Amino acid sequence: MVQNVATQVAELEPEDFHLLSGVEHGMRFSEWVAAGKISEFSRLDGEEVDYRLDRCMDRELVERKTIQYTGYRLTFEGYDALALHAFAERETVDGVGAPLGVGKESDVYEARSFEPLALKYHREGYTNFREVQKERDYTADREHLSWLYTARKAAEREYETLQGLYPDVSVPKPVDQNRHAIVMERVDGVELSRADLTPAQVVGVLELVLEEMAAAHAAGYVHADMSEYNVFVSADGVTVFDWPQAVSTDHDNSDELLERDVENVLGYFERKYPNETPDLDAGALAGALADDSFDGVAG
Ligand SMILES: Nc1ncnc2c1ncn2[C@@H]1O[C@H](COP(=O)(O)OP(=O)(O)OP(=O)(O)O)[C@@H](O)[C@H]1O
Ligand SMILES: [Mg+2]
Repeated sequence: MVQNVATQVAELEPEDFHLLSGVEHGMRFSEWVAAGKISEFSRLDGEEVDYRLDRCMDRELVERKTIQYTGYRLTFEGYDALALHAFAERETVDGVGAPLGVGKESDVYEARSFEPLALKYHREGYTNFREVQKERDYTADREHLSWLYTARKAAEREYETLQGLYPDVSVPKPVDQNRHAIVMERVDGVELSRADLTPAQVVGVLELVLEEMAAAHAAGYVHADMSEYNVFVSADGVTVFDWPQAVSTDHDNSDELLERDVENVLGYFERKYPNETPDLDAGALAGALADDSFDGVAG
C-alpha cells in the first residue's frame, strides 16, 4: 500500500521538491536517473543533490538501484508528494486527513480547505506494472515509465469528465488536478452498496440513479463502470463518482457500455431488493436514457 505523504510533505524544504522534480524530469528519459542528471535537472550542485537524496530516501520518496551506474527514481509516495505540494502552493489544499477509500486503482483522502474536499491519487498502471515487470524483464523500462503516465492520464481524464458533467449531473464538484491527483468536493453519504433502503425508497433511488445516467448521456458521457460502489446515497439524493474510464457518447461502443451500466445497476437492485424492483428491460431502458425519453420506471 502507498503511504499517506502529508506528514513528509510538511517537513520538506523547497530544495527537496527541486530534487524530486529533477528526478521526475529524468524519468522521462530513463527508468533510473543518475545523480549527475538529477543535478542538471534540479539545478542543485552535486553536494546538495547527495544531501537531498538522503533526505528523500529516508522518507521513501525516492528509491535507488545500482546496475552499471547508481540511479534513482520516484516512488509513488514521491509522486504523491509532488502533487500535494502543487496543491498546497496553489492553496487548493491546506491539509490532508483520514483515508476515505482505498481502491485497487486509487487512494482517496479527506482534504481540508475552506470546504471539505476529497483528494484522489490515481494508481492505474501501478499494480499492472509490478506484475508485468516480474514476468517480462525486457519491458521493465517502458512499463516503468508508463505508471506515471497511465496514472496521470487517468487523473486528467477523470478531471475533464467531471468538468464536463458538473453541475448538470450530480457528481463531486471538480476543484483542481495535478499529475496523477485530483481534488474534488467531498461527498457525504453512503455507498449504494452499503445503504439499506426501505421498501418505499427503492424505486425512487433507482430512478434517481437512472436520471443521472440520462443527464450524463445528455452531457455527452457514458460512465462505463457503473456499480453500487460508485454511487453515494444521502438525504439530498444520489451522487455518481469514479469517472476516469468514462467514454464519449460519440464513441463506437458507447451504446453497449451504457446498456452494460444499466444492467449493472438493475442487476444490483434486483438482487438486493427483489420485491420492490420492477421487472425492466435493460436494452429498452438504455435506449430511453440515450434518447432522453426516460420518464421513470413505475409501471
Ligand atoms: N468525492 C468524494 N467524497 C467522498 N468520498 C469519496 C469521494 N470520491 C471517492 N470517495 C471514496 O473513495 C472510494 C474510492 O473512490 P473511487 O471509486 O473514485 O475510486 P476506486 O474505487 O479506486 O475505483 P474502482 O471503483 O475502480 O475501485 C469510494 O468508494 C468512496 O468511498
Ligand atoms: Mg470506485
